[in-house]
Amino acid sequence: MAVDILLGLQWGDEGKGKIVDVLTQKYDIIARFQGGPNAGHTLIFDGNKYVLHTIPSGIFHEKARNVIGNGVVIDPVIFKNELEKLGLKNSEYQRRLFISRKAHIILPTHRLLDAASEALKGKEKIGSTLKGIGPTYMDKTGRNGLRIGDLELSDWKTRYETLKNKHLKLLDFYDSKIEFNLNELEKVFFEAVEELKSFNFIDSEEFLNSALQIGKTILAEGAQGSLLDVDFGTYPFVTSSNTTAAGACTGLGIAPNKIKEVLGIFKAYTTRVGSGPFPTELFDEVGADMGRIGNEFGATTGRPRRCGWLDLVALKYAVQINGVTQLIMMKGDVLSGFKSLKICTSYIYKGNEIQHLPYNIEPENVTPVYTEFKGWEADLTSLKNADEFPDRFKEYIEFIENSVGVPIKIVSVGPDRTQTIHM
Ligand code: GDP
Ligand code: IMO
Ligand code: MG
Repeated sequence: MAVDILLGLQWGDEGKGKIVDVLTQKYDIIARFQGGPNAGHTLIFDGNKYVLHTIPSGIFHEKARNVIGNGVVIDPVIFKNELEKLGLKNSEYQRRLFISRKAHIILPTHRLLDAASEALKGKEKIGSTLKGIGPTYMDKTGRNGLRIGDLELSDWKTRYETLKNKHLKLLDFYDSKIEFNLNELEKVFFEAVEELKSFNFIDSEEFLNSALQIGKTILAEGAQGSLLDVDFGTYPFVTSSNTTAAGACTGLGIAPNKIKEVLGIFKAYTTRVGSGPFPTELFDEVGADMGRIGNEFGATTGRPRRCGWLDLVALKYAVQINGVTQLIMMKGDVLSGFKSLKICTSYIYKGNEIQHLPYNIEPENVTPVYTEFKGWEADLTSLKNADEFPDRFKEYIEFIENSVGVPIKIVSVGPDRTQTIHM
């Protein structure tokens, strides 16, 4: 009877989708616990690429049940498009997917409020994906939100109207110049809601806990990354949910003592999309090479991701907050051919060398201190076994393991499902 959690340790896009897909065969249920369509989780197998935004990454496995938990926010329009794009519009997939009645709904006006809020912030903008995430979670904690279970009530449209009217007043207040055609947006929204209503709505906490009682295994799938957590990330440049391990408990209704392994996933370097501090960011050719070779473009917005060296200060912080028991390292293959590599091992902060993440990691406050490594030449993408790793790659991995004090259990050497090495 156990739940494992898989979550990102950096600023998102670590490769969560790929690894959840790989690990799904070991689990009965895959359950997304927070975030919404701001996420973009990429799976590649049998020559095809799939990008998931709302749907858990176990969906392509026949045996697994997939749950969208209460902690998730769902945009019916994006959900409908996602099903169409992925070719999941048939009863077989519908039977595998279960949606929590307590998950909140993103309204078209939430998206407009997101855009208005960002426009008002100007240079200080968060760089939101503009999917309405912030405003939807604000309505959740403000106790105004519309939930999936409300769609089963006869008066849900009245509730919708009340919330929409509040949003329209707020949009007036923002005085933004955003243009929109609400009738058109609502037409598309109501059509999508009708489709959504044909899915299995469940009391997901009951579903998951009953499954645990009869010995089923659950993998909780995180979205975003620990440094985007609303409490522990680089606030205010964060998302609006708890992306860390505790979020799996509140986002699924699973008690902490049911959690067994916490699988923390990180890239062999670091990326970030959107605004906010990033101490090891590179502005030179090396950073541009990482972006080009790693194909670092947002899976949801297509924006180029900012790139930089691996930051062990930040990684250790994320490992601590989440209680990570196993590490998974992604995209080491991208670093093949780099003459020299750096890993940040401490910061200079107010004249002192520190090893923990301080309150403020703006560039004017922290200067990274690096340990330098010689690079490896060999292409890693066709390797099948850890014994075949070049020595310098082994040294790179061991340095991280020893510094963090947690074993690296999986090393990913390419985007495909098969390019995955169990250590
Ligand atoms: P997620 O949001 O954490 O699921 O990650 P994304 O899918 O947004 O971004 C990860 C990107 O890296 C995707 O384009 C993946 O196809 C790709 N990817 C995953 N693992 C590897 C790897 O080991 N090597 C390389 N080169 N690409 C990878
Ligand atoms: P996955 O699950 C990377 C970033 C946005 C922005 C900030 C707030 O694919 O790893 P939001 O739309 O939540 O209001 O945006 O968070 N962000 C992500 N960055 N990967 C993600 O998801 C992200 N989801 C949000 O770029 O900086
Ligand atoms: Mg992503």
